[in-house]
Amino acid sequence: MIFPDYRARRLRKNERFRRMIRETTLSVDDFIYPLFVTHGKGVKRPIESMPGIFQLSIDLLAREVKEVDELGIPAVLLFGIPKKKDEAGSEAYAKSGIIQKAIKEIKGRVPEIIVITDVCLCEYTSHGHCGIIKDGDVDNDSTLELLSKMALSHVEAGADMVAPSDMMDGRVSEIRECLDDNAYEGIPIMSYAAKYASGFYGPFREAAKSYPQFGDRRSYQMDPANSDEAIREVSLDVEEGADIIMVKPAIAYLDIICRIKEEFDLPVAAYNVSGEYAMVKAAGKFGWIDEEKVMMECLLSIKRAGADIIVTYFAKEAAKIINE
Ligand code: PBG
Repeated sequence: MIFPDYRARRLRKNERFRRMIRETTLSVDDFIYPLFVTHGKGVKRPIESMPGIFQLSIDLLAREVKEVDELGIPAVLLFGIPKKKDEAGSEAYAKSGIIQKAIKEIKGRVPEIIVITDVCLCEYTSHGHCGIIKDGDVDNDSTLELLSKMALSHVEAGADMVAPSDMMDGRVSEIRECLDDNAYEGIPIMSYAAKYASGFYGPFREAAKSYPQFGDRRSYQMDPANSDEAIREVSLDVEEGADIIMVKPAIAYLDIICRIKEEFDLPVAAYNVSGEYAMVKAAGKFGWIDEEKVMMECLLSIKRAGADIIVTYFAKEAAKIINE
């Protein structure tokens, strides 16, 4: 059927019609809200390149998580800023580490919220890389042991799910095995399965103080030019035991989200990263775009591409609009 028999505008006439044929809707259930936790008391340090996002000390964290919970957002994703960084990122897997303490505090105050932890060493190492350095590069196999130690210590502290974001080969099976050996076979893994070496992480590195002190992450994160490789990466993580597979970043990789959703039957998460957030905020501040409209459009596009779950710094703002 073509024009004039078919007129697409008939069903766009008014909001009722548009609502009736709408294919994708956002829900607060889709969101995970990332949080940056820091040592100290009463600390609420703004992150300049991410307006509205703060590094919070543990005493202020519970109030924030409570607000997230009251908005109906099911989960938070924790990132920690350690007191001291060293070559092996020791605070990452210390019992009294920042994340381990934060989990206990949250679980004590807002027990129902799903606490997910980022499992990666870059915030904790003095060199800012995601693992142990050998001969000027991150050594894969010796890093695996530390990652599983880190994941285990998060779960022991009460984390509900762990999210490895380091991009070492074999880390999902290593973490799975370690959790199972310690009777945590019921704890799921959300793996950053297709994580690209992206320029969009810029503001996060300010937020988490995790700039690599030399070189970059291209020897472990994926080349932005590749799509088939994402399928290989995800297949490996699925075989190794991932429960949720993630694509990161989101907006510049909607094609990848779409392919992954089509090829795999696990829940797909997408990380709407710091640079994507910062661009919308900055252009909105200048009045160059309608910030709220673009925010909702970005989130909707990620969902439309196939994501079941969206990790986003916009979660609270978007939830307020959805709940209105
Ligand atoms: C840790 C990690 C990063 C992000 C999430 N986990 C930074 C990186 O890989 O450099 C980025 C998140 C964001 O940009 O919002 N490896």
